[in-house]
Amino acid sequence: LTQVRYPKVKRGNYASLTDKHLAFFESVLPKSRVITDATDLDAYNVDWLRSFKGASKVVLKPKTTDEVSAILKYCNDQVLAVCPQGGNTGLVGGSVPVFDEVILSTALMNEVISVDKTTGVLVCQAGCVLENLEGKVHEHGLMMPLDLGAKGSCHIGGNISTNAGGIRLLRYGSLHGSVLGIEAVKADGAIIDCLSTLKKDNTGYHLKHLFLGSEGTLGIVTKVAIQCPPLPQAVNVAFLALDSFEKVLSTFRLAKKCLGEILSSFEFMDNGSLMGAIKVFNLPCPVPENTPFSLLIETSGGNSKHDEEKLSSFLEEATNKGFINDGTIASEPSRINALWQIRESITESLKHDGYVYKYDISIPIQHFYEIVLLMQERLKDTAVVKCCGYGHVGDGNLHLNITSPKYDVDILNLIEPFVYEWTSKHRGSISAEHGLGFKKSDVVHYSKSAEALKLMAEIKALMDPKGILNPYKVLPSGAH
Ligand code: FAD
Ligand code: MLT
Ligand code: ZN
Repeated sequence: LTQVRYPKVKRGNYASLTDKHLAFFESVLPKSRVITDATDLDAYNVDWLRSFKGASKVVLKPKTTDEVSAILKYCNDQVLAVCPQGGNTGLVGGSVPVFDEVILSTALMNEVISVDKTTGVLVCQAGCVLENLEGKVHEHGLMMPLDLGAKGSCHIGGNISTNAGGIRLLRYGSLHGSVLGIEAVKADGAIIDCLSTLKKDNTGYHLKHLFLGSEGTLGIVTKVAIQCPPLPQAVNVAFLALDSFEKVLSTFRLAKKCLGEILSSFEFMDNGSLMGAIKVFNLPCPVPENTPFSLLIETSGGNSKHDEEKLSSFLEEATNKGFINDGTIASEPSRINALWQIRESITESLKHDGYVYKYDISIPIQHFYEIVLLMQERLKDTAVVKCCGYGHVGDGNLHLNITSPKYDVDILNLIEPFVYEWTSKHRGSISAEHGLGFKKSDVVHYSKSAEALKLMAEIKALMDPKGILNPYKVLPSGAH
């Protein structure tokens, strides 16, 4: 753990937890769902990257919306700050307390309420783990419209609160399209029932969108209704080796032309990212080990013969044009999973180097890889272990990752604010899909105008006037 305390951040004027507060929580929840044991609290106070550590003295585990409502109403009355937590896989320090905020975990809100086979609409509680939902909807011939490497731990409520992107966004779009309804609890305990399962519903403001991506600062999401697409009958994956980023872009253009509606992922990794995952997890490497760039391309469709023909003719053309050097294709689930495992293991493999400086930017596609090269040059005389790039090239979303044996402020100063200034200069976004959390709240001005930030602060003040929900996160410090 590196950034354990935050000298520049001042604790807000919130109440501190007392026995009186605990007695109230134990009147709402059974004692076993009010966690105060110091050892048990550790896992909830530390984020996945082990970059941030809070000092909360209590974790509450409600099972129902009414319990969430009673807890929030009380916390609001008592001015106790609250940190909502789902699977705690967030990468921007949003899911752990900064000081001693009460942690409200959705881990036990894991009930699937309904799956409609005809409309494909899933309704469930916010604490359902994404991978469990995927398994559940498969039974009905459906799939979740989103997928990400953290699927085994992240909650659907966390996905909604971060507006998670992931590896299917290229095909199925953002959650703003597939989430049909949300039930959420406001800071004062009011339950906002917008749990519509309708595709069309223009009855005034689309309030559900306020909760999508607001990272627990406007309310706690308790239930969701999501449109699930039909499970594809045929899935194919190609893992390809390329020797220049120019060829990555040419291959992307060709893939869109040749694969059209069956293209479901177009994922990119450079050699540093690929070899990190291969070495740390001892995985078989599907391309030559010195391959500068690799692509994982997935197709999903309804007819295996048709899809395989399309994929073969795409690969033939890409090879003839000299875009790709080598590669492998897979259509059996176990081989497909093995190829995906490589891409999905990159994030975890980086932690093995020590400390990870993680950047998640959207950038016009022609500039996609430039920042990785610029950073490699800037950091060449430092203790940096890796400076690499991977991500969702199909969505213009680069993950620039830099690692060093331990947290080093001199390295950080070489990276920031340079990376944000460069992104802003290219009219990119400093947070494409991970959110702002605690880590990026003070750099949001690189991507949002002063007027837009003012409106965000006004919305926050309207919905949570005492500022009890996830303080120190999302909004710049001056706005709290
Ligand atoms: P948490 O980490 O617990 O919380 C995230 C934020 O949401 C916090 O601010 C928290 O306060 C708030 N929150 C959580 N639940 C609620 C709720 N019910 N109501 C209100 N607020 C709530 N992200 C992507 O976008 N794309 C990826 O491809 C991707 N891949 C990942 C791969 C790995 C290996 C890891 C570790 C992370 C990855 N992430 C990715 C980041 C992370 O998994 C997502 O942000 C995810 O959506 C977080 O879900 P969670 O349940 O873990 O939320
Ligand atoms: C990914 O695409 O792998 C995730 O967003 C996690 C990461 O950025 O490392
Ligand atoms: Zn990602």
